Amino acid sequence: MRIDILTLFPEMYESPLAHSILKRARDKRIVDIVLTNIRDFAADKYGRVDDKPYGGGPGMVMMPGPVFECFEHVRRLHPEKGRVILLTPQGQKFNQAKAVELSEGKRIILIAGRYEGFDERIRVGLDAEQISIGDYVLSGGELAAMIIIDAVVRLLPGALGDEDSAKDDSFSAGLLEYPQYTRPEVFRGMKVPDILLSGDHTKIAQWRKQQALERTKKYRPDLLGNTQT
Ligand code: ADE
Repeated sequence: MRIDILTLFPEMYESPLAHSILKRARDKRIVDIVLTNIRDFAADKYGRVDDKPYGGGPGMVMMPGPVFECFEHVRRLHPEKGRVILLTPQGQKFNQAKAVELSEGKRIILIAGRYEGFDERIRVGLDAEQISIGDYVLSGGELAAMIIIDAVVRLLPGALGDEDSAKDDSFSAGLLEYPQYTRPEVFRGMKVPDILLSGDHTKIAQWRKQQALERTKKYRPDLLGNTQT
């Protein structure tokens, strides 16, 4: 997979992309992640990429010119057209199903905006999908783009050490994950459930399924409308 990020702050991505699963996936060439600075495509020598909103009001709006120029440049870097995604609180809410859907494609082009938002002609002209990571307002789309990249890349074949570990994740069957335990068997008086020490794999699987259901009922009953079990 190839992921392009168009951003005014490419340095913000250095650390998140350089550790753990994202680092390994990049090192193994499971994913190519390419950052491009929108400011490099500004029309004037000051690197201006934002301006006051027509009609008045607070804040600044991302100008269409630099974003279009940047996008057209980035698109030419690779033969796959890819899915074009604007990060904005107006977008469709991101979830695990969306992560799975995105992980099945060959290329994603993420556009992270700052300031009060994008000139509307960016969305229309680039025919971009809009994604929000939740009902709150961030100071920019950079962190939202990182979250999407993390959730998508870990689903790519070979990205996780243990091939099975993404399948059992919370949400992948529409439920929260069952409780996990590791050593020691007793910690500060709290014991690992006997069933997990029994070696009976059928019973363990049943117990886990039931625990997942109970936890979901208790903590996230809203998820139970769309269980795929
Ligand atoms: N930019 C600002 N807030 C955002 C959000 N909640 N999701 C995606 N992009 C954003």
